[in-house]
Parts: sequence; C-alpha cells; structure tokens
Amino acid sequence: MTDTHQSCLPVGKMPELRVMPMPADANVHGDVFGGWIMAQVDIAGSLPAVRRANGRVATIAVNSFLFKQPVFVGDLLSFYAEVVKVGNTSITVNVEVYAERNRLQAETVKVTEATLTYVATDEQRKPRPIPPLSTLTGQPG
Ligand SMILES: CC(C)(COP(=O)(O)OP(=O)(O)OC[C@H]1O[C@@H](n2cnc3c(N)ncnc32)[C@H](O)[C@@H]1OP(=O)(O)O)[C@@H](O)C(=O)NCCC(=O)NCCS
Repeated sequence: MTDTHQSCLPVGKMPELRVMPMPADANVHGDVFGGWIMAQVDIAGSLPAVRRANGRVATIAVNSFLFKQPVFVGDLLSFYAEVVKVGNTSITVNVEVYAERNRLQAETVKVTEATLTYVATDEQRKPRPIPPLSTLTGQPG
C-alpha cells in the first residue's frame, strides 16, 4: 500500500470527476458519509466502463472499498478511474480518490481506493459482449 500523503495529485493522469462535498453530505461533525463517496466512486468508475463498452453498463459488484482517510466538507475530491480487466461482458475498474485539503496549503491525501465491476447491457438490460477495441470509434456521451 502506498503512502496516503503526497504533495500533489497524480502526474500525467486526468481525473474522471472532481467534486466538493457540501454540508448536506456530512454528519454533524463535518465528516462526509461513506455512502456519498461510494455513489461518486460508482459514477466515476462507470465513465471509462461506458467508453470501453461503447454503451450502457450496470454495476454488478463492488469488489473492494477502502476508506483510508476521512473526507471533510470543503475537500476538493478528484476521482481517477482505470479499466484493469475486460471480460466477455464485464469490465473491472480501479478508482482512486484524492482530497485536496486546505487548498491554499496544498495538502493532498489519497482517501479512498475501490474496485468495481460493470456489465455491458443491451436494451433489455441483459448482458452483451464487450466490443473489440478495434471497433470503437468515438466516446458515447
Ligand atoms: C448486470 C446484470 C444484467 C448481469 O446479469 P447476470 O445474468 O447476473 O450476469 P452474468 O451472471 O451473466 O454475469 C455477467 C458478468 O458479470 C460477472 N460477474 C457476475 N458476478 C460477479 C461478481 N460477484 N463479481 C464480479 N463479476 C461478476 C460475470 O463473471 C460475467 O462477466 P464475464 O461475462 O466478463 O465473464 C444483472 O445482474 C443486473 O441487472 N444486476 C443489477 C444491476 C444494477 O441495477 N446495478 C445497480 C445497483 S442496484
């Protein structure tokens, strides 16, 4: 496991999502609910899955989820997501979440790591084969 504290965000990577939790996303102590973070991770992870599947996907499994550090109201969160496995109908994605705290002091902390599996689905919400990479032409919305 890598150190959770670092001075900057991962170099050379683009986050899928950047978002700042608000007071409604936290308990009375200002700690952000794990369920709120899980929802954002699911959204961030689905984005590369949708691109790779060239269409709709459904989350079938949350394989692992580690809340390594707390998240506070006002943290600027960046969600990095990467496809790590492509099966017949499924796509597994790693998601790493970094928080920029006290942004004027440039403190960056890795707060969450997760792995999720998505299944490519058709119009009837049934599994469909992942298309070969060579057939992908664009990036669906
Ligand atoms: C997604 C869904 C259409 C898949 O249908 P299914 O008949 O269960 O799918 P299958 O058993 O054929 O498995 C499909 C793929 O998922 C994988 N899979 C199944 N269970 C899994 C698990 N526990 N962990 C990881 N992958 C899993 C299978 O290995 C298969 O991958 P592959 O084709 O690449 O080998 C169906 O399960 C569903 O609709 N689930 C609800 C999805 C949803 O609503 N998610 C939002 C949260 S409620």
